Amino acid sequence: MCGIIGCVGGQEASEILIEGLRRLEYRGYDSAGVAIIDNGIVQIQKVKGKIADLQKILNKLRLKGTIGIGHTRWATHGRPSELNAHPHHSKDITVVHNGIIENYRVLVPILKKKGYVCKSETDSEIICHLIQMYLDQGLKMEKAFPKALCQVRGSYALAVLYEKEPHRIYVAKNASPLVVGKGQGENFVASDIPAILNQTRTILILEDQEWGFLEKDNIRIFNLKGQPIRRSLKTIQWSLATTEKDGFRHFMLKEIYEQPMAVQNTLSGRLGNGHQRIDLPELEPLFPRKKNPFERIYIVACGTSYHAGMVGKYMMESMARIPVIVDLASEFRYRQPVLDSRCLMVVISQSGETADTLAVVQMARQKKAKIVSICNVMDSSIPRISEATLYTHAGPEIGVASTKAFTAQLVVLSLFSLFLGDLTKNLNRKDVISAIESLSKIPSQMKKILRPDAVYQRIARKYAHCPSLLYFARGINAPIALEGALKLKEISYIHAEGYAAGELKHGPIALIDEGVPVVVLIPQDEHYDKTYSNIEEVQTRGADLIALATQGDKLIPKIAKETIFIPKTQWFLSPLLFSIPIQLMAYYMADYKGTDVDQPRNLAKSVTVE
Ligand code: F6R
Repeated sequence: MCGIIGCVGGQEASEILIEGLRRLEYRGYDSAGVAIIDNGIVQIQKVKGKIADLQKILNKLRLKGTIGIGHTRWATHGRPSELNAHPHHSKDITVVHNGIIENYRVLVPILKKKGYVCKSETDSEIICHLIQMYLDQGLKMEKAFPKALCQVRGSYALAVLYEKEPHRIYVAKNASPLVVGKGQGENFVASDIPAILNQTRTILILEDQEWGFLEKDNIRIFNLKGQPIRRSLKTIQWSLATTEKDGFRHFMLKEIYEQPMAVQNTLSGRLGNGHQRIDLPELEPLFPRKKNPFERIYIVACGTSYHAGMVGKYMMESMARIPVIVDLASEFRYRQPVLDSRCLMVVISQSGETADTLAVVQMARQKKAKIVSICNVMDSSIPRISEATLYTHAGPEIGVASTKAFTAQLVVLSLFSLFLGDLTKNLNRKDVISAIESLSKIPSQMKKILRPDAVYQRIARKYAHCPSLLYFARGINAPIALEGALKLKEISYIHAEGYAAGELKHGPIALIDEGVPVVVLIPQDEHYDKTYSNIEEVQTRGADLIALATQGDKLIPKIAKETIFIPKTQWFLSPLLFSIPIQLMAYYMADYKGTDVDQPRNLAKSVTVE
């Protein structure tokens, strides 16, 4: 989704803005632009395409201004083009915007009648005209800006320059993320923390319906009524290295390799009493007197996080014997779900900003359901309105395709399920202790799978030209088959489908023909024999089998073209280990094809619009 960066202070803005835009690239974009106040005049430069092209232009211009705003655009309203790229401009006002102004079609003709004509096809442009209109009516900027904000409906994160106040950046936020960074004699604004982490670690997070301004030595925030807001600053602890590639070809590969550490960090402090107990103090207020007040659990999320939720259902139902319903946030919010205070709503979101998931939390709150969110980005919008948040400690995830955040979500879901199993007495002490023992081994088992292995390059060479791949598995690994297909599709653009193996006979087996690549996940669990029968069915029809099997399995290598061995673990933890080869397979296929692995076409890292 669109990214915003802004700076005001001592350093030349053009360098800071370009570096910030680079750090926002991972969110996905199709055009970029900046506005810099140079010698009192706003200079706007925009390009369709890459930030490097924008940088070339700025290098030639050599602007010395120290105040500016920048934007990466991910097109929603209006095709990708230079005209539609931000910043947008109206006489004295220059605006960058992330979000969607839902009532722009109503506002465009009203503004036109008054002589303010939109030149682009975007919803965003009306914002600068609205502010300008109020300025022209004689209002001061500190009145005109909030008045314009009150006229727009929808979501916005905004950074605004006013040529007559060339020492200030105005900012505002509603339902799209925006953070302010405090420096020494300079201040910053950005869509997310990694964009300014090289400049400052002191952050102020704006809340919905707040606006304010930044000057070199001053940050002021107000609500829409104009009342000042006092907010404490936060110090960010992540190291800068976590937001850089560290010698890996892509962020995605680096993040795949960071999984043992991400799991370790997510477990850290949660295995209490010398690894005898699950400690999730965040959940305690929801389970007074250590009793379960909930009749059922909904797990709601989008994309990869939804697949984590599907795995969570297997864990929770088995360990806690509480019915679990899993749904896509984009569907759930428009159904009439039966929701009340007896429901526990578990929402999963790496970014904590996904528009559909956020809307589900708002809906569940109205229905008095209790909300536990599982998020990776601290203090993002979803945690801020949840009763409790179980953070995954995967560190910043920059690659658009989610990897380490996904396995960290699986860790949290397994801890949560063990917590519930213990609470409902469906698990005894021995079960919990043995589960903890297996969980603690996961990082070292992951490292074994992550050893550099030519198998993925060989698979890529052999199958990257194929038009389509099928993935299948049973039980708790069926969602990992879906995730494998999603990973491959999104970064390699190769068509792929994932199925629960039992579904093959109900349709997909018709796709099997000589040489069709089929990826099967077959751990040695209670489903082994049934999945093995499915393997034989596709193999006799000519499929090329790529199997992920448990270490020591003697049968599978005899029937599969390629076998990748996975260390043995307890059933509910096998998705954590089986996820890694499917990520690596997708990565090497995409890299072999030469696609833009970290920023696949049309995709955005945090989907802050519907
Ligand atoms: C796929 C992927 C997406 C996200 C989805 C939800 O690799 O990353 O499918 O999982 O957009 O995002 P979050 O988890 O931030 O709510």
